[in-house]
Amino acid sequence: MKVLIVGGGGREHAIAYCAAKNSRVEKLYCAPGNAGIAEFAECVPIGAMEFDNLVEFAKEKEIDLAIVGMDDPLVGGLVDIFESVGIRAFGPRRDAAILEGSKAFSKNLMKKHGIPTAAYENFDNAQKALEYLKTAKYPIVLKADGLALGKGVLICEDLKAAEEGVKTIMLDKKFGGSGNTMVVEEFITGREVSVLSFVDGKTIKTMTSAQDHKRAQDGDKGLNTGGMGTFSPSPFYTKEVDEFCQKNIYQKTVDAMREEGREFKGIIFFGLMLTEEGPKVLEYNARFGDPEAQVVLPRMKNDLIDVVTACIDGRLNEVELEFEDNAAVCVVLASNGYPLAYEKGFEISGLETFKEHDGYYCFHAGTKFDGDKIVTNGGRVLGVTAKGVDLKEARENAYKATEWVDFANKYMRHDIGKAIDEA
Ligand code: AMP
Ligand code: GLY
Repeated sequence: MKVLIVGGGGREHAIAYCAAKNSRVEKLYCAPGNAGIAEFAECVPIGAMEFDNLVEFAKEKEIDLAIVGMDDPLVGGLVDIFESVGIRAFGPRRDAAILEGSKAFSKNLMKKHGIPTAAYENFDNAQKALEYLKTAKYPIVLKADGLALGKGVLICEDLKAAEEGVKTIMLDKKFGGSGNTMVVEEFITGREVSVLSFVDGKTIKTMTSAQDHKRAQDGDKGLNTGGMGTFSPSPFYTKEVDEFCQKNIYQKTVDAMREEGREFKGIIFFGLMLTEEGPKVLEYNARFGDPEAQVVLPRMKNDLIDVVTACIDGRLNEVELEFEDNAAVCVVLASNGYPLAYEKGFEISGLETFKEHDGYYCFHAGTKFDGDKIVTNGGRVLGVTAKGVDLKEARENAYKATEWVDFANKYMRHDIGKAIDEA
């Protein structure tokens, strides 16, 4: 089987690592990939949004399975385009990827189908939004409707901040067309948990839980990022929480999408908040989380390609997902300055140490080859993941492994997984 993975971050590295273990996979390609993925796959210099080039490449190489890892190409309809030329592809079609692509859509879906989420109003008119905000309760949350690299969410403490937020999102269009519609949402509090799941249109099977750390600095300070580190499982995701979500959130979402004529096949990533009133959905994503995938996939006992094919064929009910009874922590090594300005092109040393240690992984997020050297090529550079018998051991191991690698301007948070001490 010839497999093409679309994307080039730590998530795609974790996917490639799993795909390479399947003996039926005779050739693995990744577009565009990165220097770490190149260990498992032939990386081809085609961007994830270059649909024509991707399809031409897939046809020429007779790709049997394409796995689309990223949100932009999914929301843009890459899966539909692959299917239209007879290439099997894993991920939601465009009409289902809207679950992530439009927050206004997903909020309306949850309201209509009784899925617990924060109260909200959608606005496509800035003046009406400003009127509403005058009498709203603060803090309040403003969200650009569309994809905004995870940055289109503003938490506003008072009316003045909210007025500025409306200007940023709807008038100045800082997040582009994403801000044509804006969701105004009740501010809710609690622990956040990420639950990823496989979906075949009808059946949903959830994976082990994880938690991300989105802010750039220790103590959840600083700017929002794509994610600075993760741990899995979350000790706050108890059996009771899982039972509630299985009953009130997961299957209901899949059924709601079918009822809307938008059958969902692929990954649904539930961003949950465990509030005092019970778990609520903060957001849906239509793909593996990054860096959630880096702690969840290494703990999965099933063969990823087998599960992915079962989803495409509508046979997920035959699959029993199994995870190791241990824990994993991923610490992101970033370029100092991320998520704002940072320098690239610095040589990375020490990567070979990971080969000598089982249960340790160095997933590449932003790296490339410069001759035979590997250099930094992004804000998030590496995801250092380690397993342990429990979260405490996994965290110790992961932080130990962050010392094995070095590059100029290396930056990381030092408190990934610290919340587990309170569990
Ligand atoms: P989202 O992209 O919707 O997950 O939002 C990014 C982050 O903003 C979340 O991980 C939360 O920390 C925060 N957030 C989003 N919606 C709310 C809300 N209604 N109340 C409080 N915090 C929120
Ligand atoms: N780590 C959060 C995300 O992938 O959206």
